[in-house]
Amino acid sequence: MKVLVIGSGGREHALAWKIKESPLLKELYCAPGNAGTEQIATNVNLDPTNIIELSRFASEKEIDFTVVGPELPLTLGIVDEFESKGLKIFGPTRKASEIEGSKVFAKEFMKRHKIPTADFEIANSPEEAKRIVSSGKFSFPLVIKADGLAGGKGAIVCKDIKEAVNGINLLMIEKKFGKSGERVVIEEFLTGREVSFIVITDGRRILPLVTTMDYKKAYDNDKGPNTGGMGAISPSPFVSPQTFQEIIDKIIFPTIGGLLEEGRKFKGVLYAGLMLTPDGPKVLEFNCRFGDPETQPQVLRLESDLLEILLSAYEENLLDKDVKWSEKSAGCVVLVSGGYPEKYETGKPITGLEEVQDSENVVIFHAGTKFADGQIVTNGGRVLNVCSTGSNLSEAMKNIYEAILLINFEGMYYRKDIGKEIV
Ligand code: AMP
Ligand code: GLY
Repeated sequence: MKVLVIGSGGREHALAWKIKESPLLKELYCAPGNAGTEQIATNVNLDPTNIIELSRFASEKEIDFTVVGPELPLTLGIVDEFESKGLKIFGPTRKASEIEGSKVFAKEFMKRHKIPTADFEIANSPEEAKRIVSSGKFSFPLVIKADGLAGGKGAIVCKDIKEAVNGINLLMIEKKFGKSGERVVIEEFLTGREVSFIVITDGRRILPLVTTMDYKKAYDNDKGPNTGGMGAISPSPFVSPQTFQEIIDKIIFPTIGGLLEEGRKFKGVLYAGLMLTPDGPKVLEFNCRFGDPETQPQVLRLESDLLEILLSAYEENLLDKDVKWSEKSAGCVVLVSGGYPEKYETGKPITGLEEVQDSENVVIFHAGTKFADGQIVTNGGRVLNVCSTGSNLSEAMKNIYEAILLINFEGMYYRKDIGKEIV
């Protein structure tokens, strides 16, 4: 088969790497990809949001199956566009992706289907939002969220009324995230452990991936600003078998079933960002795609053929049994450019990659990298994902942190405490 993977992050390199193992694969393309995917696939210089050009490329090249990494093309309707041209593609339609694309839709959907989530109100104007935060309905801290996609930065935790008013002004008047701030969700602050619960679904059945959690804060000990994710581990020790079943029964099946019932059949990956609260698991947000960096440790533990699984979901005949996972633990540490998640420089040469490639127990998934004049240079905020497996997490993390010592680029930094509270 000819397969196209859309995206350029560590998640897409990990997906491409695993798909590459499949006996079903003949040719692999990645759009736009990075310096890592370039070593295992043909990179195609097309932006993931350019869905018309991507579908033209897929038609011309006779791509048999396309796998979409990031949310933006999904919420823009890439699946609808490909399907209208008779092209096979893995991911939810535009209508189904609204579960991630609109927080207002997601919250009202959860309310309709009694899916546990933080108590909330919707505000359609800054005046209404200010009325709600001063009404006393929610005690402080409370959370204000932009309605639409905001690159993981649209949720503001406010510890008093002053911060809440500033947050409302930022989202709704200054429009920090553009149209996303036309409406906001105001919600109760939840406490507990945060975990990512990710399933592949064919619209009815589900294949839960092994448990995982990411580390969202930029600095050690969960300090600093939120990022896309500075590291991830699998399994997550906080999801007991009982919690696992509770999440499936109270959150995942009601969501998949509710979307089907509302004419938004969801085929693809459903990612529930959850808080394990003292009252049980509650949804913080849904994503309509694989996690990044959660995918990296998850694919390292997958022993079955990923391409076959994704195809079975597409064909609505999901391989939910017989999928094999390794009992090992896996970890991932993200090496980022100095300044990330704010401003950072790119184009810095990366050294040490070959030395690490020679070691057998570490895998590097590239993110913001590219080839320039024959060498690999930085090309984004999150640059490299250094990953490994071990018979326990401590072994995996030791492999990773030893390998990182060999790698360098100007301004490189990373969290030194991934998995630390567990090992
Ligand atoms: P979201 O974009 O909704 O996932 O929010 C981004 C991050 O903000 C989450 O990963 C949580 O760490 C935090 N967060 C969001 N909503 C809440 C909430 N209701 N209570 C506590 N923390 C939250
Ligand atoms: N790691 C967070 C996400 O994929 O949304």
